[in-house]
Parts: sequence; C-alpha cells; structure tokens
Amino acid sequence: MRKSPTPTSKEIVVTEDSFLASKTDLKGIIKYSNREFTRISGYDEKELIGQNHNIVRHPDMPRCIFWLLWNTISKGNEINAYVKNLCKSGEYYWVLANVTASVDADGNIVGYYSVRRKPAASALIKIVPLYKELKAIEERNSNRKEGIQDAMNHLNTMLEQKGVSYDEFIITI
Ligand SMILES: Cc1cc2nc3c(=O)[nH]c(=O)nc-3n(C[C@H](O)[C@H](O)[C@H](O)COP(=O)(O)O)c2cc1C
Repeated sequence: MRKSPTPTSKEIVVTEDSFLASKTDLKGIIKYSNREFTRISGYDEKELIGQNHNIVRHPDMPRCIFWLLWNTISKGNEINAYVKNLCKSGEYYWVLANVTASVDADGNIVGYYSVRRKPAASALIKIVPLYKELKAIEERNSNRKEGIQDAMNHLNTMLEQKGVSYDEFIITI
C-alpha cells in the first residue's frame, strides 16, 4: 500500500494559463499526465503513470463528489467539478475539473480524460463551506455507502431549493 502524504495548510495557486491534464483507463489508473499536472503534483511522471488517480485525492474532498463523477462519466456524460488535490509535499491546490469519457469508433468507452483550470476565487467561497458540510454529513454515518447517499441527498436538496441542476450550479457559481 502506498502511503498518502500528510496534508499541510499550504496552498499552491494554479496560474490563469495552466491546463492540468490527465488520462486514465476505465478503472481510473493514470495512463497519461501532462507536464503541468505532473509538475504541480510534485511526483515524477513515472510515479504517476500506472497509479490509481486517487494518488492525488485530498482527504478534505467529500466522497459524494467522486461518486457523482464516476456515475456521470461511466454513462458517457461529462462532468465539471471543483476539486481540491493533494501534492506529494502535502500541499494542496484547487481546480475546476472537466472530465469526459473517451470513446472508440464503435462508441465504447475506452478511458477517461480530465482537464483542470484555475477556479474563480468567488466560486471557492461557496464551494469550500459546501464541501465541509458534505464531508461532515458523510462522516456522521458509520456506513460509508450510506454516508455518501446522505451527502448526495443534501446536495440534491440544496440544488432543488435553488431551482438549478448540478451543471447549472457549477457553471453559474
Ligand atoms: C480522468 C479522471 C481524472 C480524475 N482526476 C482526479 C483528481 O484530479 N483528483 C482526485 O482526487 N480524483 C480524481 N479522479 C477520481 C479518482 O479516480 C478517485 O475516484 C478519487 O480520487 C476518489 O478516490 P476513491 O475512489 O479511491 O475514493 C479522476 C478520475 C478520472 C477518471
């Protein structure tokens, strides 16, 4: 088992002109990482390739966001999500990630692709407390699956109250 870095409170700010890209197979194993994604992660390319993409998962991230991500992309749909990632150094960075399925000539999903950009500071003002809330809801339930479902219910209730879909919320936030 690989040991996850201990998170620190130091943030790495992604620059406006950065595109952080990676590709995975169907199981989320990293097959490609562009120079900027590799650089910011703090890992060497050879340390990333072949690893599960959760190598950069930050413990502050609610599990329900990844549940939603996989539920969406495995159906061939695209998703945009705010993600806090963990660097090898324990530092973190925020991105707005776009994740899509890559399909072959017959329309079969053969892998996934993600490109990440610097998020607007105004969006993070809303996302940071929302993710804290979702994470706390997840942790309140000792059953991991049920915790994710509780957090999804909370997210959906919030979206219903606002009268927007998840996609609209992410784009307009
Ligand atoms: C193309 C692609 C890109 C991904 N990018 C990230 C990422 O930047 N950060 C992250 O924590 N998870 C990312 N994930 C999700 C991970 O595969 C994983 O579901 C997540 O880190 C949660 O870990 P867990 O599934 O082991 O709980 C990505 C998945 C795919 C398919």
